[in-house]
Amino acid sequence: HRAVVTHTVDDFEAAFWPDESPVDNAVVMTMGALHEGHAALIRAARKQVGREGRVAVTVFVNPLQFGPSEDLERYPRTLDDDVKLAEENGADVVFAPSVDEVYPNGEPQVRLAAGPMGDRFEGATRPGHFDGVLTVVAKLLHITDPDFAFFGEKDAQQLAVIQRMVADLDFDVEVVGVPTVREEDGLALSSRNRYLSEEERSHALALSRALFAGRDVAAQGPKAVREAASAVLDGAEGVTLDYLALIDPHAFTEAADDFQGEAVLAVAAKVGSTRLIDNVRIIVR
Ligand code: PAJ
Repeated sequence: HRAVVTHTVDDFEAAFWPDESPVDNAVVMTMGALHEGHAALIRAARKQVGREGRVAVTVFVNPLQFGPSEDLERYPRTLDDDVKLAEENGADVVFAPSVDEVYPNGEPQVRLAAGPMGDRFEGATRPGHFDGVLTVVAKLLHITDPDFAFFGEKDAQQLAVIQRMVADLDFDVEVVGVPTVREEDGLALSSRNRYLSEEERSHALALSRALFAGRDVAAQGPKAVREAASAVLDGAEGVTLDYLALIDPHAFTEAADDFQGEAVLAVAAKVGSTRLIDNVRIIVR
């Protein structure tokens, strides 16, 4: 199975839309440095559209969603390996445009705003991040025009604001969330894990351990969940906590102490100089 690799919008459209055939198509958007988490999204996309359908993977490190002191310059770029992983998991087309191809007029003047949902949690620490994400996701949805777009639950707030954008602005696409893929020891796969030293990687396990400890007491209510997760992080070596939050997944607000139902227990922390996020979906009683 070979994928066509394209770098311009015109070439992509010719490859992804060779004719007016009515097959379903799906898009998986990434910033590259692909791993098994991305692979799960690509496989889910292939499963959704069937053998006859078409799957595109976009690889684009979007400058708009990086803050001035973030890792835009050192973000890993591994296109050859990415193409291989994409085609091995069922992609037909890889779209890997340059910054100039995506933003031919330089910095866009007109941008999307994520609103209050984008100001909390990740957005509090990374101002403007979700505006940058939504702006590029909207552009890539327009370029690729898919029936389905797949995003990981790993980035729970990103998934929520994208779903909200699609609903609020009537995008004609079905957004599908895919469960987080983890290493056997619990660490959520992330392109940024490759920044971790061996020691930092073992410190990073505190994040998933905290989430699992919270999940274990989900039946005892929000307070118990927060306490159990905090207890793990309080004593954790090498971890600088940004936030731990129990979140109502629809509004993406902090869940009240009497909250019941499906919630997202989310954590963000720095391990060394690497910022990591993780979350689990739990049913709180
Ligand atoms: P990136 O971090 O490359 O992630 C691409 C997609 O893979 C996202 O939907 C993300 O949630 C998903 N993903 C990452 N790690 C995962 C894991 N361990 N399990 C399951 N899914 C995982 O997210 C972005 O890029 C960008 O913000 C993007 C949406 C491409 C816009 O620039």
